[in-house]
Formats: sequence, structure tokens, C-alpha cells
Amino acid sequence: MKVLVTGGAGFIGSNLVKHLLAGNHEVAVLDDFSSGHRSNLAPFPQVQLFEGDVRDESLVAKAVAGVEAVFHLAASVGNKRSIDHPILDASINVIGTLTVLEAARKAGVRKLVASSSAGIFGELKTLPIREDHPVEPDTPYGSSKLCMEKQCLAYAKLYDLEAVCLRYFNVYGPNQRFDAYGNVIPIFAFKMLKGEPITIFGDGTQTRDFVNVRDVVQANLKAALAQGVSGAFNIGCGERITINDLVAELQTASGIQVQAAYGAPRPGDVLHSQADISAARTAFGFAPSVPMAEGLREYMAWAATVK
Ligand SMILES: NC(=O)c1ccc[n+]([C@@H]2O[C@H](COP(=O)([O-])OP(=O)(O)OC[C@H]3O[C@@H](n4cnc5c(N)ncnc54)[C@H](O)[C@@H]3O)[C@@H](O)[C@H]2O)c1
Repeated sequence: MKVLVTGGAGFIGSNLVKHLLAGNHEVAVLDDFSSGHRSNLAPFPQVQLFEGDVRDESLVAKAVAGVEAVFHLAASVGNKRSIDHPILDASINVIGTLTVLEAARKAGVRKLVASSSAGIFGELKTLPIREDHPVEPDTPYGSSKLCMEKQCLAYAKLYDLEAVCLRYFNVYGPNQRFDAYGNVIPIFAFKMLKGEPITIFGDGTQTRDFVNVRDVVQANLKAALAQGVSGAFNIGCGERITINDLVAELQTASGIQVQAAYGAPRPGDVLHSQADISAARTAFGFAPSVPMAEGLREYMAWAATVK
């Protein structure tokens, strides 16, 4: 099928593009390279590139022409970035998504698969988290992702456009770089590779559900192919580990011993996180398959190649 990946130059988007091309799909990418990298797309010259902003109505209209499914990943990503730049966060995540939805319904797109986040839930009341857990986001990012979801699901009710929102928990894998807004695995991994000490926010007993990017790619493709399915679904590995245990796993995966210090907890960070993934399993057969030890070995090997 012919597909559009917004945010295809980013971490998750570029892994999705690689998988789609391997499955002989025709792939277009729309990206402004604000947090994505040209080098992520360099191995794929066959991709049709629409360079620009996801809020640019005429560019998005061109990009969706003749497309059967849109994977919408372009976003201002992360809690910290949204606390630093709340208006930009809402503009890209809310207006950007509406721009994609409008263009998609006008172009007769069959399916939109949008990347949402576990950040919509806020602090957790019950574990593991089911889709009907209360949504009380702690950050502008969580709020903008929740708003984005509601828009997608409203369009699915109003128009002949199926919409699936995938609420990712903590995704990790190749092409996930270290930057000021990075997630914990790249931050720790790149410091370890440089022989630098790491700082654990809080006492390290907080837990996260880490899901490998290959499993997230699988969720996107299965959601796109499932006929007649709309809704919002949790996408995690379905288990959780403490940050202290993550450090131990990273040391085993890399063979590097690291010095860890403890710092103050970060504002907006939840204490515990773990997805109940049974709804995605039932709706479109989502079944995560990458064990953490294998995923971390692969990640550390990739990170060692990044200059
Ligand atoms: N990485 C995670 O753990 C995680 C967790 C939950 C949700 N998500 C969601 O998954 C999606 C992909 O995230 P990622 O981790 O790959 O981040 P990323 O920053 O690597 O990718 C985002 C991509 O969107 C592009 N982009 C940003 N603003 C744009 C704009 N205005 N116009 C066009 N392109 C724009 C960036 O250049 C980048 O290529 C995002 O929607 C994010 O919110 C990620």
C-alpha cells in the first residue's frame, strides 16, 4: 500500500520507514527535521520526501494525495520540552494533528495511525494501566497528546476515516539519540560509552515499561492493516522494571561498569508505569516479542557506532 509517515526522519519514524520498505510498501515522509535526522533517511533514497511543517496545510495536502494509510508521528516530543515550550508543544501536537486529519479525510485516506503517549494518564492509580484508567496528564505534553487523541477519535466518528491512537510507554532502540530532551536509556547509554557517571533522578525504585521500537513498529503496521478498527490502545511490553535494575541490565548488555549518583526527582515524572496491553492484542494481534536483554544489547551496539 501507499503510505505517509509524518515524523519519518525521527527515531520511531525511521524504524517504521525501514520496516515498511522491507514489506514493499510505497513510502512518503513529511518531516521538518526539527528533531529528526537526515542520516536516518539516507539509506532509503526511494522514499518520497515532503520537507516542511506538519501545520502547513498545502504541504500536508500534497503529501496525503493517493495515500491509503497515514502514520502520524510528527510531534513536539516529551514532558520536559513541553514544560520549556508549552505553546509550541500545543501548536504542533494539536493543530498539526488537525491539519493531518483534515487533509486525510479530504483525500479519502482509509486509516490514520497516530502516535500518542502514556503521558496522557498522569500519576497512576492502578497498575497495570488499562485504557479506561483516568486521564489526568501532569504536563502540557500529556495534555496535547490527549487532545490529539480526542480529535482523531472524533474524526473517526464523523467521517469515513478509521483512526487508531497508540499510547506508547517508554520506547527504546536504534536511532534513539542522546539530546537535551532524551529518554533515560539513551542518556545512560551514551554517558556509559563515554565513561561518564550517570545521575538517577529519585531513589531509582521508580518503574517503567520499556518497549522495543521493533514492537512499536509491529503495532503500527498491525493497527493500519486491521480493517474496521478505531480507538486508543496501550502499547508497551506489559512489564515494568526499576531504574536501578535498568542500570544493571545496561551494564550487562554493554560490559561497561558505570558510576551512578542519585539526584532530586524531576517535575512531571510519574513514579510507576506499566501497560495492560490486552486490548491491542485483541483488536489487532499486538504481541511484543523483543526481550529487554536482547533489545539493550542491540541498542548499545548501535550507540557505540554513533559519533
Ligand atoms: N520515544 C518515546 O518513548 C515515545 C513515547 C511516547 C510517544 N512517543 C511519540 O512517538 C512519536 C515519535 O517520537 P520519537 O521518539 O520518534 O521522536 P523524534 O523527535 O525522534 O521524532 C519526531 C519527528 O517529528 C518531526 N517533527 C517535529 N515537529 C515537526 C513539525 N512541526 N513538522 C514536521 N515534522 C516535525 C521531527 O523532525 C522528528 O523527525 C511522537 O509523536 C511522540 O510523541 C514517543
